[in-house]
Amino acid sequence: MKAIEPCTLVIFGAGGNLARRKLIPALFRLEMVKRLPEKMVILACCLDHKTREQWISEVSGMLHAKYPKHLDGEAFERFRERLYYHASPVGDTESYQRLQKLLDDSPEFPPNVVFYMSVSPSEFPAIIDKLGNVNLLKQKVGWRRVVIEKPFGYDLLSAQTLQGGLYKHLDEPQIFRIDHYLGKGTVQNVMVFRFANMLLEPLWNHHYIDHVQITHSETIGIEGRAGYYEGAGALRDMIQSHLLQLLALVAMEPPVTMNAEHLRDEKVKVLRAVRPITQKSVNAHAFRGQYTSGTIDGKTVPGYLEEPGVAPDSTTETYAALKLFIDNWRWAGVPFYMRTGKRMAEGSSAICIRFKNPPQDLLRHARSGPQQPNWIMLGIQPNDCLKMEMQVKVPGLDLRTRTISLDATYRKEEDEDYDAYEGLLLDVMQGDHSLFLRIDEVEAAWRVVDPILKVWSMERDFINSYQAGTWGPRGTYRLFDRDDQFWRQSLNPEGADLQAY
Ligand code: BG6
Repeated sequence: MKAIEPCTLVIFGAGGNLARRKLIPALFRLEMVKRLPEKMVILACCLDHKTREQWISEVSGMLHAKYPKHLDGEAFERFRERLYYHASPVGDTESYQRLQKLLDDSPEFPPNVVFYMSVSPSEFPAIIDKLGNVNLLKQKVGWRRVVIEKPFGYDLLSAQTLQGGLYKHLDEPQIFRIDHYLGKGTVQNVMVFRFANMLLEPLWNHHYIDHVQITHSETIGIEGRAGYYEGAGALRDMIQSHLLQLLALVAMEPPVTMNAEHLRDEKVKVLRAVRPITQKSVNAHAFRGQYTSGTIDGKTVPGYLEEPGVAPDSTTETYAALKLFIDNWRWAGVPFYMRTGKRMAEGSSAICIRFKNPPQDLLRHARSGPQQPNWIMLGIQPNDCLKMEMQVKVPGLDLRTRTISLDATYRKEEDEDYDAYEGLLLDVMQGDHSLFLRIDEVEAAWRVVDPILKVWSMERDFINSYQAGTWGPRGTYRLFDRDDQFWRQSLNPEGADLQAY
C-alpha cells in the first residue's frame, strides 16, 4: 500500500445527488477504516452561503441513513475536523479568486489538490476554465488533479471539443475520467480471473465461446434526474461508459504489465476493433425501449412519461440493447450482447459467457430437453460471484444428464464491504490512472455508439415500450443470431431457459 501525501479534496457540487449518495459516505467509510491520509481536508464548494458548522451538520445528515451508529464516535470527530465550506454563488465573479486565496494562503489546506467535478456534465467546462484562469490548475508547489464524471460529452465530436477545452489548462496526467463501474470488486476480478489463472486462456476465444452477454438491470427509475436523463438516455448513461468498459475487460488481450498505460492501451485496442455499425444496420444491432407504469416490489410506479420533468412526447430510451462484433483474431464471429434498463424486473449486473456445444451430441438420449451448453458467469451485483454451469450424470441406474452450477461465491462473511467510489478516490489521491479512462478510450467508445445515437435521434416518432417490473421490451430476440440464444434472466440454472418474447 503506497502512502498517500496530504492533500485537499475540493468537491464542486458537494450538496448534490452524487456527493450525498456516494462521495461523502465513501469518504466517511475511508475515515472509519483509517485510509484517509493525515492532514487531508475536504473543501465543499456549493452555490449557497453556509457556515462551516451548517455544512458539518448537513454532512452528518447525509451519513445518517447509512452510518447512524457512527456519528457520535471517534471517526466522525476526525472526519468533521477535515470538513470546510466555500460558497460559489452563480454570478459571483470573485468567488474563484477567493478560492485561490484560500487554497494558496491557508496553511490548513495542503498544496496537493484534487478538484472533483460532482456537477452536471454541462457545468464542469466553465468551472475548469475559471480554476485555470485563477492559476489553480498550475502545478507549482503541489500536484493538481481534476476528476470528471461521465458522460464525457454527448457524442464523439462534443467529447473532442470538451477535451480541447480541458487541454487549455490541464495535461492528460492531471485528468481522472471516472467510471465508477471500474471500482466494483467483480469488475476488477475480471482481470484477476483472466490473468491470474491459466485454466481459461486456451478457451477464451471464438473457437470455444458462442457468445457473451453483459447485463445491467435496475428496478429504480430516473430518481428525479430528468434534467440529465432526458438528454442522455440509457445508451449514453450506461452502455457508452460502463458496459463498454466491461466488454473491454472481457475481450482485451493480456497487457504487457498491469500499469495504467499498458492496461489502457489494450482496452483501446479492443474498443477500436469493434465492428462499426453503419446507420443502415442500426436496427439489426440495437433495440431501445421506454418503461410504462407497472409494479415493482408490490408498488405501482409511474411510467417514464409521467416522471416529473420528462417531456410528454419524449422518446428517450430507458432500455437499450446492442449486439456488437469484435473483428480481431481472438473474437471473430462471436456476438457480444449488451443490455441495460431502468424499472426492470430485477436489479442485477452480470457478465455471462456461453460456450459452444460439443461437436457431436453424443448424449442426446440422456436428456429430455435441448442440449445445454456450458456457461461461465461473473455476478457483479447484488452479489459478487463466479459460477460455472456443466452437465453431469444424475445419480441412478439410468444414464440421464442434468445441469449443475459450480458456485464460487467468493465473498466471505468477514470480507470488507466497500463502495466502488472508495477505491477510486484513493487512486486519485495516489495518482494511479489504471481504473480511469484515457481520452482515446472515451473516443473509441463514442465511435461505437455514435451511429446508433444518430439514427435514434432522427427516428423520434416511435419507441417500443415495456411495463415497469418486466425484463424489457418484447422483440429483442431479433438481435440474436439463432433460436437457441436469448438473454439469461438469472445466474441460477433455470435462468438459461429461453423465454423469447
Ligand atoms: C450511473 C448512472 O453512472 O450508474 C445511473 O448514471 C445508474 O443512471 C448507475 O443508476 C448505476 O450504477 P450502480 O453502481 O448504482 O449500480
